[in-house]
Amino acid sequence: MIFLSGLNRLYRSDDVETTALRSIDLQIDAGEFVAIMGPSGCGKSTLLNILGTIDRPTSGQYRFGDTDLTTLPEAALAIFRRNHLGYVFQSFNLIDDLTIEENIELGLVYRKIPRQARREKVAASMDRVGIAHRARHYPNQLSGGQQQRAAIARAIVGNPQLILADEPTGNLDTENGAQVMDILAGLNAEGATIVMVTHSPSHADIARRRIDMLDGRVVISVRNAI
Ligand SMILES: Nc1ncnc2c1ncn2[C@@H]1O[C@H](COP(=O)(O)OP(=O)(O)OP(=O)(O)O)[C@@H](O)[C@H]1O
Ligand SMILES: [Mg+2]
Repeated sequence: MIFLSGLNRLYRSDDVETTALRSIDLQIDAGEFVAIMGPSGCGKSTLLNILGTIDRPTSGQYRFGDTDLTTLPEAALAIFRRNHLGYVFQSFNLIDDLTIEENIELGLVYRKIPRQARREKVAASMDRVGIAHRARHYPNQLSGGQQQRAAIARAIVGNPQLILADEPTGNLDTENGAQVMDILAGLNAEGATIVMVTHSPSHADIARRRIDMLDGRVVISVRNAI
């Protein structure tokens, strides 16, 4: 599903040049659950942002199925993101002045899905993560664990092919982190492809493959025993 070849990402400011990614070659198949690990600053978020088309590589190729995303103009990328990707962030990133159900519904509004169908999808995804009882609450009325479950509902409501999660348990206590991992593992078992950045070895073990990064390179990629 995902093919990266010779991918580089350089950040240039006035006098400093940082190489965040160096000649990354990586293939991720549909249905995989991949954990990306490595020390702070090694390029994990940069890689995830490029996979999510929030950032572009400086050079190299990113192909998604038969589509070369490297050459796609921004407007086409926005449509691609809307239709195929779901994001989960460490800090939840829900919109404060929308209720939980409005947050989850928003992406479907942009996709011009009719109201009744939107409601059904929102209800199903809230049920999926156990947050339906907080539908009319605002994000700041929820615990961190609940907010992250709502963020997962938002990520999956459009039935994306790929879920990208950057340290989804990074701001959660052990119990809430375990709940989030259960949900992600369940989604993967149902067929979702997931790429997750984590600092937790035990959470990386729940994924089916682990990729270790160092200094902008992929240094090792191992398949976990199931
Ligand atoms: N917008 C930017 N401008 C300049 N340098 C950047 C930018 N974003 C990231 N970098 C640099 O690129 C490198 C990789 O950063 P990245 O955020 O991908 O690391 P990370 O592995 O996600 O780290 P962490 O575990 O702390 O989240 C770092 O050296 C960082 O300082
Ligand atoms: Mg990061």
